[in-house]
Amino acid sequence: DWTMASYKDDAIEKIRAQVGDKRVICGLSGGVDSSVAAVLIHEAIGDQLTCVFVDHGLMRLNEADEVVAMFRDNYNIPLIHADESDLFLGALEGVADPEVKRKTIGKLFIDVFQREAAGIDGAEFLAQGTLYPDVIESVSFSGGPSVTIKSHHNVGGLPEKMGLKLVEPLRELFKDEVRALGRELGLPQSFIGRHPFPGPGLAIRCPGEITAEKLDILRRADAVYIDQIRKHGLYDEIWQAFAAILPVKTVGVMGDGRTYDYALSLRAVTSVDGMTADYYPFTHDFLGETATRIINEVKGVNRVMYDVTSKPPGTIEME
Ligand code: XMP
Repeated sequence: DWTMASYKDDAIEKIRAQVGDKRVICGLSGGVDSSVAAVLIHEAIGDQLTCVFVDHGLMRLNEADEVVAMFRDNYNIPLIHADESDLFLGALEGVADPEVKRKTIGKLFIDVFQREAAGIDGAEFLAQGTLYPDVIESVSFSGGPSVTIKSHHNVGGLPEKMGLKLVEPLRELFKDEVRALGRELGLPQSFIGRHPFPGPGLAIRCPGEITAEKLDILRRADAVYIDQIRKHGLYDEIWQAFAAILPVKTVGVMGDGRTYDYALSLRAVTSVDGMTADYYPFTHDFLGETATRIINEVKGVNRVMYDVTSKPPGTIEME
C-alpha cells in the first residue's frame, strides 16, 4: 500500500542521514520487530550493518537455525550467531524462582551482546526495534513496577554504557504497521504473522528447575501443538499459543505397563495487546486429537491439560 511504500522510502533516507558512513549493530531476536528493523536498515546502508543474535538456547524447535538461515543466507545480512546455550543453561541450573530466572537471562544476554558488539570495529550506532507502544509504556511505567513487556530485549542503559547512539526506525509505528512494513520489505507472511515470543523464551514455560531434558520435551510437544493449530487453520485467530511443561510427573498406562512422565499444559489466548486475554475456545475434538498426538509423538509426556484461565486473573505465560 502507498502509505507503507512511502514510509519505507522516508525511513531509509532518515537512516542514511543519521548514520552516514558509520557502522551499526543490531540485536536480532528472531521476533518480528527486530527483524523488520534489521531488514530495513540493511536496505538503507547494506553491509555497514552487523546483526548480533544472542542464542540463549531457549528458542523453540529449529528456531535458531531458521533465524540464521533467513538473515544470513536469504538476506545476506552480516550476522554473528553467538550460540551460548551451554552458558545460559549452566547459569540457570537449580534456579526455580521466576524473577531470578529472568534476571539471570537478562544479565547474561547483555554480557554476551556487549562482548560481541565490542568485536565490531568502529561501530557508532545501536539499532533497536522499539515500537510506539514501547515508547509510551516505558514512560508510563517509569518509577513503577518493572514490568515493561520488553524488559529483557530493551538493552536499557546499554547504548550509553557502550558509547553508542540509538537508531530506532520503528519508533512511530504500531504492531500492525510494522507487519505492513515487513511485507513491504518482502519478509514472508508466515514470518510476519508469527505469535509474540517472550525474551526469556522457553525458560518461563518451564516452571521450576530448567533442564536440557525438559526443554527437549517441551520443544517437541510445542511443535506438535503449533502444527495442529496450523493444520486446523486456527493460527491467525490466536494471539499466542504454546505448551508449558509442568514441574510434576504423573502416572499413566501404556500397553500393559505403567508410565511415570511429565504433565504438559497447553495455552492459547486471544488478545488485542497482551494486557488482557481470553482463553481460546478450541473444540473438544481438537483438544482430544492434540492430546493424543502429543502423547503418541513425544516421549516423556503422558498427560496433557488445557489452560482455561483468562487474563486477569491469570497471566499469559506461566511465570
Ligand atoms: P504475561 O505473561 O505477563 O505476558 O501476561 C504478556 C505478554 O508479554 C510477554 N512476556 C514477556 N516478553 N520478556 C518479554 O520479552 C518477558 O519477560 C516477558 N514476560 C511475558 C508474553 O509472552 C505476552 O505476549
